[in-house]
Amino acid sequence: MHDLDHIVKDIAAEMAERPDRGTVATYIPELANVDAGQFGIAIVDNDGRVFTGGDADTPFSIQSISKVFTLTLALGMAGDRLWRRVGREPSGSPFNSVVQLEFEKGIPRNPFINAGAIAVTDLILSGHQPREALGEILRFVRFLADDPSIAIDEKVAASEQRTGFRNAALANYMKSFGVIENPVDLALGVYFHQCAIAMSCRQLATAARFLAHNGRNPKTGLSVVNAERARRINAIMLTCGHYDGSGEFAYRVGLPGKSGVGGGILAIAPGRASIAVWSPGLDQNGNSHLGRIALEALTKRLGWSIFGA
Ligand code: DON
Repeated sequence: MHDLDHIVKDIAAEMAERPDRGTVATYIPELANVDAGQFGIAIVDNDGRVFTGGDADTPFSIQSISKVFTLTLALGMAGDRLWRRVGREPSGSPFNSVVQLEFEKGIPRNPFINAGAIAVTDLILSGHQPREALGEILRFVRFLADDPSIAIDEKVAASEQRTGFRNAALANYMKSFGVIENPVDLALGVYFHQCAIAMSCRQLATAARFLAHNGRNPKTGLSVVNAERARRINAIMLTCGHYDGSGEFAYRVGLPGKSGVGGGILAIAPGRASIAVWSPGLDQNGNSHLGRIALEALTKRLGWSIFGA
């Protein structure tokens, strides 16, 4: 057995035993039905090999991890113009915080907090019907993962659409500053649906492999983004990917990462591999409890932290 195969199986077994599993998100009612007993891990290395453990093939709601894909897509459409509408500094605030927006005149701190992600999605929507914009996002993710079966969980999207009052407040507030171009309900509709894309750890790690490989798909050699853009997306993941838990994630795991309230975490080991973990129970910052612990164990065993062994 390859070393990595051994390690992911080991970590999955360790995680299955742990009694502390965090708390499943309930503010999106549909997510409250997910069984907290699950754990999955997948690694796709730069030679294209895939290593999996636990529930690596179970699809889950990727939620905020979708923001990595929409940021990549929007940068492809707008280039650096995107940064006129959204900053790239860590917020030190929760993912759904309202307070900073007033001080900063409707310009969200970064593309990974909810306000910033809604602004990015609004940019993708401009000039399109919501259905087209969503189709564009879904096609991009399917293309990256090389898997046409990836789909949106309509129940999760509808559940968030019914209860997403906080996001509606953020979007309306940004709209008052002209930061949102399209009708607020349309921008939110696309955003809720992108968050409701369901993917497994295997699909997610595969989709993000370009970030570990200077912007290229390691299998085909084809470029998704240039090396500079891949490096910069990784930088934003490191500094902003876990909201007010980003410092702790860098301290413990030492890799660029993006979490979602569905319990997934995507982590990138630049030059080595793309990693996805999933366990639905969250910590107090809304990031997967066991997902973080598993990634910490992994990077420690492999010496993969970008900060040194
Ligand atoms: O907008 C929301 O609240 C959710 N659709 C996504 C939030 C999320 O995943 C935060 N990440 N940990």
